[in-house]
Amino acid sequence: MTPTPTPTPTQTPALSLADAADLNQAPIDVTAVLDHLTREADAAAATSIGFPGAVDVDQTEVMARLGGRLWNNIGDPQDPGAGTHTRALERAVIAWVADILAMPADDRWGYVTTGGTEGNLSALHAAHRRHPTARIYYSTAAHYSIPKAVKILGARGVLIGARPDGEMDYAHLAGQVRKRRRWPAIVVATAGTTLTEAVDDSTRIQGVLNEHGVAGHLHIDAALSGIPLALDGRLRFDDAGGIGSIAISGHKFLGAPTPCGVALIRDSVRTHGSHVAYTDTVDTTITGSRCGLAAALLWHAIATHGREGHRWRASEARTLAAYTVYQLTAAGWPAWRHPHAFTVVLPTPPEPVRKKWLLATDGDTSHIICMPGITRGQIDAFVADIAATAPPRPIPRPRLSPESPTSAPGH
Ligand SMILES: Cc1ncc(COP(=O)(O)O)c(C=O)c1O
Repeated sequence: MTPTPTPTPTQTPALSLADAADLNQAPIDVTAVLDHLTREADAAAATSIGFPGAVDVDQTEVMARLGGRLWNNIGDPQDPGAGTHTRALERAVIAWVADILAMPADDRWGYVTTGGTEGNLSALHAAHRRHPTARIYYSTAAHYSIPKAVKILGARGVLIGARPDGEMDYAHLAGQVRKRRRWPAIVVATAGTTLTEAVDDSTRIQGVLNEHGVAGHLHIDAALSGIPLALDGRLRFDDAGGIGSIAISGHKFLGAPTPCGVALIRDSVRTHGSHVAYTDTVDTTITGSRCGLAAALLWHAIATHGREGHRWRASEARTLAAYTVYQLTAAGWPAWRHPHAFTVVLPTPPEPVRKKWLLATDGDTSHIICMPGITRGQIDAFVADIAATAPPRPIPRPRLSPESPTSAPGH
């Protein structure tokens, strides 16, 4: 018998993800699309050091056991709620975060949001309802969700300058508040600005408001640094600090594998919603249906590490950030960081390095963020790529104020 010849494999060109995912074709190769996505994400993981998502929290058990169902925490987290939900875990998360911030037990409220943006909107909504004529002050280093919230609320925003290291210019704030002292002030301070991880000083902000006899509300956008600074005792939501609300992202330091966050607002300040008959819940949150899986993921991240575990994660990440500054500077690429920060700021490298390492860039400045889970090996490979390029044109390094390391809001 003559053997059957092996057919030469025909070379079918690989479909792009957009073509493979086109819902108008039939049949759709679902496995190929999912393979494509996971392959791309796996390939990007080793060089993903520009954005602040921790990658060391193992959530496979929660995703495997809860990920296939709808967990809907619709309405207020305090409602007993019918249906399948994780409100008990959500309340535990809110209590833990409020506790590490020393938020007064008799004046606290909060919920698990879709992210830092929703937390900012919810807090500013509550503040604006109490002070409808208030001007909302925020710095040029504030996240873009702040001016967006100001627009959504139809409020009046006042842009305040920021120093080169990213911290608010308090003298400029004082001048702007003085001009508008007949109106209440809602001031947004950032604890961990997006580009340099600078922390605005809420004591100085309160000082400006007191000096001009202006009442209002102080909101802290602590998307990145809220948890680590609270664990250090450097961000406190106690009665002494005069803070009215704090928003934190859940997919940043706590590493949730889905966008989410925590909004904390003083109970005496927050919006009291109306009862909705058909859901039998009180409408106090920005979105109606809310992701119960996100609350479970945050709960699991906290339950499996505890305060000490999270302190250790922050400390390891800061040690790696210090190492990165040292190595980059030794390679002729002058880098700097705030002493509390995971973020390392450096002159923008040439395009191929920037693209490969997915750096966040703003003109001649870029940053990498040594989030928990980033390794020394990744940093060494990045520094080697940088060292192989021509040294940067020197850009002035900002002078860090002496109080920068401890100028967290609340102090
Ligand atoms: C300072 C700051 N605030 C708010 C946000 C928005 O957070 P989210 O992406 O969770 O909505 C970010 C995100 O990068 C941020 O850096």
